Amino acid sequence: MADVEGLTKDEAREELKRLAREIAAHDKAYYLRDAPSISDAEYDALRQRNLAIEARFPDLKRSDSPTIRVGAVVGDGFSKVIHAVPMLSLGNAFNEQDVRDFVARARKFFARDKNLELAFTAEPKIDGLSASLRYENGMFVQGATRGDGTVGEDITANLKTIAEIPKRLKGTGWPEVIEVRGEVYMSHADFAALNKQAQETGGQTYVNPRNTAAGSLRQLDSSITASRNLKFFAYAWGFVSAPFAETQWEAIQRLNEWGFRTNPLTIRTTSVEEMLAHYRSIEAQRASLGYDIDGVVYKLDRLDLQARWGFVARAPRWAIAHKFPAEQASTILEAIDIQVGRTGALTPVARLKPVTVGGVVVTNATLHNADEIARKDIRVGDSVVVQRAGDVIPQIVKVNLDKRPSGSVAYVFPDRCPVCNSKATREINENTGEPDVVTRCTGGLICEAQAVEQLKHFVSRRALDIDGLGDKQVAAFYKEGRIRLPADIFKLERRDGVDFPLLAEQEGWGEQSAKNLFAAIDARRAPDLDRLIFALGIRHVGETTGVLLAKSFGSFGEFERVASAAGEGNEEAVENLLSIDGIGQTVVASLGAFFANRRNRAAVDDLLGVIEPKPFELNVATDSEVAGKTVVFTGSLEKMTRAEAKAMAERLGARVSGSVSKKTDILVAGPGAGSKLKKAEELGLTILNEDEWLKLVG
Ligand code: IVH
Repeated sequence: MADVEGLTKDEAREELKRLAREIAAHDKAYYLRDAPSISDAEYDALRQRNLAIEARFPDLKRSDSPTIRVGAVVGDGFSKVIHAVPMLSLGNAFNEQDVRDFVARARKFFARDKNLELAFTAEPKIDGLSASLRYENGMFVQGATRGDGTVGEDITANLKTIAEIPKRLKGTGWPEVIEVRGEVYMSHADFAALNKQAQETGGQTYVNPRNTAAGSLRQLDSSITASRNLKFFAYAWGFVSAPFAETQWEAIQRLNEWGFRTNPLTIRTTSVEEMLAHYRSIEAQRASLGYDIDGVVYKLDRLDLQARWGFVARAPRWAIAHKFPAEQASTILEAIDIQVGRTGALTPVARLKPVTVGGVVVTNATLHNADEIARKDIRVGDSVVVQRAGDVIPQIVKVNLDKRPSGSVAYVFPDRCPVCNSKATREINENTGEPDVVTRCTGGLICEAQAVEQLKHFVSRRALDIDGLGDKQVAAFYKEGRIRLPADIFKLERRDGVDFPLLAEQEGWGEQSAKNLFAAIDARRAPDLDRLIFALGIRHVGETTGVLLAKSFGSFGEFERVASAAGEGNEEAVENLLSIDGIGQTVVASLGAFFANRRNRAAVDDLLGVIEPKPFELNVATDSEVAGKTVVFTGSLEKMTRAEAKAMAERLGARVSGSVSKKTDILVAGPGAGSKLKKAEELGLTILNEDEWLKLVG
């Protein structure tokens, strides 16, 4: 077996995946079937190796890592639960200004509601694991982990062992069905006691309360969970058969009356200053609370307003997490490596002497770009302060200049791509006339690093999500010439054994795995439109923008037509794109540039010859008058802001577009409407004023 020190990052990633699977299989054999499949020594060696690789590459640690699965035992141990209402994450605020901006956004969104005073709740953000608890007729019937937010695992038996989770709701007035959501966590005292016990019995000690709580919840033997004394705070809910409160504040009181513990540090206020003061007060109490928290969550109080404000991608607009500043530690910067990304960006990465920061071993940190290194005068050999916040990549805050070794030299950023040796340059930003902060390889797709990173992105989990085609396979296929462009992926099977030697006969492959890969690829021949747009890897077009574009154009053809026209300078197309809420100049310019490039267009055409993207389905109320219709708003609105009108139309299943065409069904025209109104009249479309529109949608 290769020395852990000699592993490349890709090899390490693959091996961690293999180890997770293998250890889980042994765990299952041992714990479930009582039939150990290897000796204890061999098993320990596997776990040791997994641990060593994770210590060297902490950012590669998997969510199903055997080190998280305390005492292990998972594998396929739990059945899946589909959340009727998805379990969301929260957007982050990292400073007071972000919080002020959040409140300002709320005030702007509801600006048309006269005399509305917006209230918010503020409460600690518990650093544990979220769980969803389903009660039917007041009885706890099912409990699930968050999972990916859509599908979680059924851990009912384990949750039943938690004393703070009521098995039967107290009081009265609960809806027939209610899913109560909150955080399972372990107190500092229980964590310390568990570790003391582990030490005394020579067992494995635990890293932090959160991971221990996670491991405890994923035990197949619930008596182990029971012994861990986990706790639970309720702070939200999912599906409810009937409304049970009008505000967040009231909802929390109800949950409390029904027997849940809710956090005593929750307040309700209409003032930003009070929200911030509460944050500071909670921060001051942080160390003495007895459990881990990582910030403060603010939520818009009125539930009807929450519904009106709505969601972005995976998080509500109406709530935000104000995170505490990151934890820090000092270590030695051993080397600076340059990575070449998907868009050619050269990113310097700091290789650090391993150091524990906030409970996690850190060996790498991002250095962002050349300016950042120069500004902080970071040099190889320096003692540096490293910080880590939540899930973000560790960063170097500053150099401990007093510890700088004599004879150290300033770092010189390369002016050539370390992979393809093309010139690396800093583009001039059109808006500012200043050089861009990012140094980019100018090699484009002739740069193997860029081409390979693009392909990795294309097949990645959030893009086309092709199983069995991981980073390592993509890199190998690229080298071999099997896959150079996205379309090649879908030609793999057809060309296998014809243009390339049979995959099944290649090192690391067999009949079955080749068959599986082809099947996984076939399963993606009709990709979701938003994922496909995201997968193309167009600069500035992330997941959220992918959804916005898919939602607004509905089909790939329409998206491509408008984006290409924008690339040719067609003003109507540019305006059409700009009218999409959340899409600005930068994205439009980038879309235009992408489609104006002949090579990109050829690659897209080629791709469309082998796949058939699904039209974007609006997944909302179908019984509304406007479901499936395309609506355009123009002129000024008086009862609500444009953003709100749009959100409302979308909730009712309509597609909101920015420009009038034959495909438009309804034009809602307020005072001041001009060219769009005229065009709609010419096309003979349905034209409504604001009141008529409101009447139509009820
Ligand atoms: S509210 C729709 N409140 O933070 C909003 N979440 O980063 C749902 N969390 O997955 C979340 N304390 O696990 C909310 N007081 C709190 C919380 C909290 C911890 C967790 C939760 C969520 C994550 C989002």
